[in-house]
Amino acid sequence: MIKPDAVENGHIGAILEKINGAGFRIVAMKLTQLSRNEAGQFYAVHAERPFYGELVEYMTSGPIVADILEKENAVADFRTLIGATNPAEAAEGTIRKLYAQSIAANAIHGSDSDENAAIEGAFFFGGREQYAY
Ligand code: CMP
Repeated sequence: MIKPDAVENGHIGAILEKINGAGFRIVAMKLTQLSRNEAGQFYAVHAERPFYGELVEYMTSGPIVADILEKENAVADFRTLIGATNPAEAAEGTIRKLYAQSIAANAIHGSDSDENAAIEGAFFFGGREQYAY
């Protein structure tokens, strides 16, 4: 998911280019805006964290781009491509190092396991798109 700061700052194209350049295939994509309820549900695993309110507020502040990506070893390779959660700690050349503003407005989200990738893909694309590839 390309987050509101990166969309607002005009980085959709550059980020998709890096994703494709790293060997990922985009198999579903949409621009949409999350409601508070949806953002709360997407990040429910963080509900008890002190930053949850700020995270939901921020994630609903503007449009996001949701993508389903395919690649061998996709989860681990994508996490390498995007860099550390805190852009101040992200490696040179990573998407967060290049485009993130802060730990909350950190440009992009990647699923942390195959299981969560399936859950998060279904969250955004639900129906037939799951079977489109
Ligand atoms: P993401 O990979 O989308 O997963 C959870 C998000 O919570 C994370 O990226 C950050 O944007 C956000 N987050 C994590 N830690 C903090 C923090 N200390 N303060 C604010 N937001 C945070």
